Amino acid sequence: MINMDELKKMAGIKAANLIQNGMVVGLGTGSTAAYMVDRLGERVQKENLAITAVSTSWSTTLQCRRLGIPLKEIDEVSKLDMVIDGADEIDSQKNLIKGRGAAHLLEKIVASMTSNYIIIADNSKKVTVLGEKMPVPIEVLPKAIGVVIAQIEALGGKCTTRLGSPGKDGPIISDSGNLIVDAKFKNIPNPKVLDSALNSIPGLLGHGLFIGMATKVILATPKGLEEF
Ligand code: A5P
Repeated sequence: MINMDELKKMAGIKAANLIQNGMVVGLGTGSTAAYMVDRLGERVQKENLAITAVSTSWSTTLQCRRLGIPLKEIDEVSKLDMVIDGADEIDSQKNLIKGRGAAHLLEKIVASMTSNYIIIADNSKKVTVLGEKMPVPIEVLPKAIGVVIAQIEALGGKCTTRLGSPGKDGPIISDSGNLIVDAKFKNIPNPKVLDSALNSIPGLLGHGLFIGMATKVILATPKGLEEF
C-alpha cells in the first residue's frame, strides 16, 4: 500500500521536472513542496539546470541553500515563469485553502507573480466544498488582533490564535512577524464572497483562501497522477 509521503513525493517530482533551463521559479512551503525542492536541487546539481528561485519561507530558503539552488529575494523580481506549491484543501475549480505552515502571506504574493501556478498534493487534499475539514489560516497584524477576530467571527468564522508546538507556550509568529489565526467556517460554499469580505478587514494581512489563482493541480493518487 502506497503511503501519503510517497504520494507527495510523486507529485513533487513530477512538478520539479516541468521546470526548464533559464526559468525564474517560485517555490512553495510544506512537506509536499519540500519533495519538489529536493528534486529541483538534484536537477541543478546533476543536469546543471540554470534557474533562479524565489522562496516563500525561511524553511524553503534554508533547503535551497543546502541544495545549492540560486535564490533571489521576492522584492528583486516582479514576474515568475512558474510557481509550484502545496495546498491543504483543493476543490474541483482549483480553489484552495493554504497556510497550515503559516506561509500563506508570502505564498500568495509569490503566486500572484505568475500565470503558471501549479499545485501539488496527495489526494487526501481534494474536497467537494472548501472548509470541509480545514480552518482558513489568517495572518494578522499583532496590534489589530482583537478587532480582526471580532470581524472574522461576525462573518461566521470561529477563531483560534495558533499557538506554538507542545512545550512552547506563546503564539506562532510568522516569518513576517505577525500572528496566525485559524478561522473555522462550517463550510465555504461561495469562497469568492468570503475572499472579498476577508480582504476588506483592516489589520488582516493575508488569508489562506486562494481563489482563481491555480492554473494546474497535480494530484497523486494510489492509482497514479491526475491533473486538472
Ligand atoms: C504552507 O503555509 C502551506 O500553505 C502549505 O503549502 C500547505 O500547508 C501544504 O503543506 P503540506 O504539503 O505539508 O501538506
